[in-house]
Amino acid sequence: MDQRLGQNNKEYIAEPMIDWIVKDIPKPPRIKLFDDVSFVYEIQLARMELSSWWRDPEEFARRAAYYEEVDGRRTYHYYISDIRGKGQIGRSNQYLTHWYYPYKAKFHPQMIKALINWMGLKAGDVLLDPFVGSGTALIEAKLVGVDGVGIDIDPLCVLMSKVKAGLVDTNLDELMSIDLRRAFDFFHESKSASQQRITDFFQVIERGGKGPFEGLGEDVYEFYLLSYLYALSDWTYIHVDMWKQFCENVNRMMRNLKAFGDLKKKLIFGFGRVKTLHGDARHLGDCGIAANSMDGIVTSPPYSIAVDYIAQDLHAFKYLGIDPSELQEKLVGLKGKGDVRIQIYYKDMILAFEKMFYSLKPGRYCCVIIGDVTYNGEKLRLSDTYVGIAKKVGFEYLGIIRRPILGGFARLRYEYILIFKKS
Ligand SMILES: C[S@@+](CC[C@H](N)C(=O)[O-])C[C@H]1O[C@@H](n2cnc3c(N)ncnc32)[C@H](O)[C@@H]1O
Repeated sequence: MDQRLGQNNKEYIAEPMIDWIVKDIPKPPRIKLFDDVSFVYEIQLARMELSSWWRDPEEFARRAAYYEEVDGRRTYHYYISDIRGKGQIGRSNQYLTHWYYPYKAKFHPQMIKALINWMGLKAGDVLLDPFVGSGTALIEAKLVGVDGVGIDIDPLCVLMSKVKAGLVDTNLDELMSIDLRRAFDFFHESKSASQQRITDFFQVIERGGKGPFEGLGEDVYEFYLLSYLYALSDWTYIHVDMWKQFCENVNRMMRNLKAFGDLKKKLIFGFGRVKTLHGDARHLGDCGIAANSMDGIVTSPPYSIAVDYIAQDLHAFKYLGIDPSELQEKLVGLKGKGDVRIQIYYKDMILAFEKMFYSLKPGRYCCVIIGDVTYNGEKLRLSDTYVGIAKKVGFEYLGIIRRPILGGFARLRYEYILIFKKS
């Protein structure tokens, strides 16, 4: 072996990074990174998560995000990320239930898991994501045994988050007891279900009849509703046969849940309790979030203010009877035109930061993921603006991690993890 490649380069090229990762740790466990850990930000996060858990290698093996092995034990993430979903890249995204519904603004679950670990959150602690989107943070919190509250103003996101986090410990027999044809027809024949179908399941079902969902829980109904909307999205964008796509997605998810069921027999999981609420991040008090009650925050507020998120999901809003212009008025980042849009956006984000500060316990951490965007031809350094806002509302700024976004069509070159503390 060429010595210039480093002394420790016995297995693969990232191996020398181990020295840097364990540099300040008095008694590090033996560790092996996943083969595909290669970006600087991943190495930084790997170091951060280990710095909080090195004293308990057994627990660390249960929760580590970037490691394949800890003290010779295969990590839980190794097994979980082996339960693959559509479009998965390595160990970073789309695994288990994360892939269910093509929602574009998701963050990488592996990265979120590492941040939850670094914050030191453990059983009984509560994580808050006030812009929960498709529920990524709640799924990861639940998997490492941490409780969580997610909030979103968009009812479609609330549905995604509830379903995807709920599937982790769902009753698979109940889910599989449904005849797929009947479930599909139930949604297909009532083409313009009202919004209440999401928010007031039992009442509406009473009126319209429960069809194949008679005697079953709300979670079963919501899973099939989301599956129908997934097929509707595929039909809208890639013009595939809805029925075939519905079956393919549902069956693939069933295989994932079956594989996870087998894993649960082999490994010990203590799932966190998580809930998703329909509400406004600018008014967390209205969602019942009390002052100094949260143990950590991980969130990604809307930042692609030039992207029309409403248009992307118009088919689903139409089906659910959601008025897109009403929703647009409540979504942070999409109000007004030209410079006015930016001003309203910053005002809304000040409110959101104030509420995050208010709800966090002193001594705890808040991680905000954000990208810089170009709006009306002007590059907005949102990361700098957010650091300024966060400091103004009282947060201590601890640092920033930069993540490159690859791919020829990426609108953004970088995303940033901003790290704050409420002292
Ligand atoms: C970048 S996405 C979050 C994605 C999420 N991290 C995930 O992994 O799926 C931002 C989210 O903020 C939500 N949002 C916008 N305005 C909001 C508001 N006023 N209150 C709560 N959520 C809001 C949007 O509906 C969207 O789901």
